[in-house]
Amino acid sequence: MNSSLLVNKATNTQSAIRLPVIGANWKLHKDLAETESFFEKFRSLVDDFGYCEVVICPPFLDIATAVSAAEQTTIHIGAQNLYWENDGAFTGEVSGEMIKASGCSHVIVGHSERRRYFGETDETVLKKLVAALEAGLTPIVCIGESERKNVESVLEKQFRCGIAPLSAEQFAKLIIAYEPIWAIGAGKTATPEIAAAAHRLIRGHVTKHLGAQAANQVRIIYGGSVKPDNAQSLMAQEEIDGFLVGGASLDAVSFAALVNLYKSEEKSESRINQSCNYV
Ligand code: 13P
Repeated sequence: MNSSLLVNKATNTQSAIRLPVIGANWKLHKDLAETESFFEKFRSLVDDFGYCEVVICPPFLDIATAVSAAEQTTIHIGAQNLYWENDGAFTGEVSGEMIKASGCSHVIVGHSERRRYFGETDETVLKKLVAALEAGLTPIVCIGESERKNVESVLEKQFRCGIAPLSAEQFAKLIIAYEPIWAIGAGKTATPEIAAAAHRLIRGHVTKHLGAQAANQVRIIYGGSVKPDNAQSLMAQEEIDGFLVGGASLDAVSFAALVNLYKSEEKSESRINQSCNYV
């Protein structure tokens, strides 16, 4: 499985289905040696990633090492941030074009830690999304509420101001990560029902702003204390198209266990049938 357009074996017709994505957000963790040893171990634990899109996002300085460690595999490498200008007097910043040229295919945009500690806003998120898309990167744009209240209004505003102004063509290349801040690094994940309800809400906004086709196709992944022992019940929700994983992605064994959850043919088959309900 390497395309989001697959043949539905039951009817032998083509249907738009959503290939699961599993992203590793390493945040401010791992040096070059640790990056090398992660990949050596991880590659020996997962043999074929056709059943899902695996994206590993190390710190900038580890990207070259990660890109060469991922050669001859289908592991994608992503950055955790970018700046919206391509060049100029912007000390400390890195552009989308530079990230693309370094061998990355993805970039995380608007993570709640960037919003909270580095002053990112819906407006800068939108600028970064446009820059990432222009550079040919797939953005993984993060949205989520800080407390379990006002969920609807927070998601509505983040979507309306940070994402909805994109054209349908631009939007088609995005991955959305729903990351409730109260669940990040907290050891308490959203229940599958809570996460699925938020994903439905987001998909509803996509329908309203960009139409049913865009809503059917966009992958909405969940992030917040995902671990091998809670992932199965989350991924059983048809609304949840994968994960963005922090802490559990730092260990090759636990990240491989998450990736391998998507491996069984039975699971893929059931997702195909579930996904076809949308079209
Ligand atoms: P944790 O998995 O450590 O909760 O982090 C989630 C996250 O922020 C991924 O971007």
